[in-house]
Amino acid sequence: MKNLARKNILKIKPYIPGKPIEELKRELGLEEAIKLASNENAFPPSRDAIRAAEKSLRSINRYPDGGCFYLKKALAGRLKVKPENIIVGNGSDEIIVLALRAFVKPLDEVIIAKPTFLIYEIASKVHDAKIKFAPLKDLRYDVKKIASLISKKTKLIFIANPDNPTGTYITKDEMEFLISRIPKNTILFIDEAYFEFAEDVKDYPKTKKYLEKKNIIITRSFSKIYSLAGLRVGYGMAREGIIDCLNRAREPFNVNSVAQAAAVAALSDAKHVEKTKKLVENGKRFLCEKLDSMGIGYVPSVTNFLLFKVNKDGKKIYRKLLRRGVIVREMSAWKLDNCIRVTVGTMPENKKFIKALKESLP
Ligand SMILES: Cc1ncc(COP(=O)(O)O)c(C=O)c1O
Repeated sequence: MKNLARKNILKIKPYIPGKPIEELKRELGLEEAIKLASNENAFPPSRDAIRAAEKSLRSINRYPDGGCFYLKKALAGRLKVKPENIIVGNGSDEIIVLALRAFVKPLDEVIIAKPTFLIYEIASKVHDAKIKFAPLKDLRYDVKKIASLISKKTKLIFIANPDNPTGTYITKDEMEFLISRIPKNTILFIDEAYFEFAEDVKDYPKTKKYLEKKNIIITRSFSKIYSLAGLRVGYGMAREGIIDCLNRAREPFNVNSVAQAAAVAALSDAKHVEKTKKLVENGKRFLCEKLDSMGIGYVPSVTNFLLFKVNKDGKKIYRKLLRRGVIVREMSAWKLDNCIRVTVGTMPENKKFIKALKESLP
């Protein structure tokens, strides 16, 4: 079958998802296992969101609202932009794909940091884009390097802010420098999937105000702070002209009706957001203190996860953690050897992880 595939498709390393918890338990004969591998919210969704999702199930004989009318209206009110400046996606991931579909033709250039969120590279390869990589500097995006790679052929620049897997962020000054270097025919794609965890950091940029000045797409997610990862819903903001192009590239019913209903309800539950922020702050502090006391270096993070380095074989430690019922991400796919990324969980989960880590280190 491989001889039928496009050449670029064969160059893509498939994204390897983690094992389902139940499967891991069965395989290793564990009574309990916890997943701290995908930067999800440890809390279940808000009760209002669950109720709205359940109610919407009664009409899943109908197609969803292809225009996401109510969700866009709710987002527009919240974000103080017009519904015409918003697109909703099957996760914010889908908007990455739509941007490539709408704006990038084969051999157009895209700029991507290395390492960063893997989907930018995978989706760009699917679209036969020419990728220019900008290596991180001290595990942070290097905006000068990115600016130096811009050419007349650059169509899209992908920025994860905050970044995954490092948890670091581009400051307001760095973002302003980058925005000042964006030519007329280039779109800056700012992925803010972890926005809510970073928004209170003093020099984290408030990018919404640049939307009308330049060709910028900002994406955010319901998967993280709103606990709706399983429903797949995220959104993008941009000038009307950009949103119009993204909509033309979109499948008509890309966001299912249960996701739309749950997202509308989740948006008005401010308590859930505050509760999650507190959980993550306290959990992160606990994890940092424990890693400090074990002499393990980690990257200061403004997200709901931490990247740390073990002195020994990271894959081995990862497997030892698995056997103790703790699923984390080992980072060799990102070429961050001996690094592990752990999502902040509930306090009992964080404690279980630290105990398992202590037992796993030689
Ligand atoms: C940087 C980044 N962007 C986007 C996503 C995907 O978000 P969504 O679930 O909205 O597709 C993730 C998920 O882990 C992420 O880390």
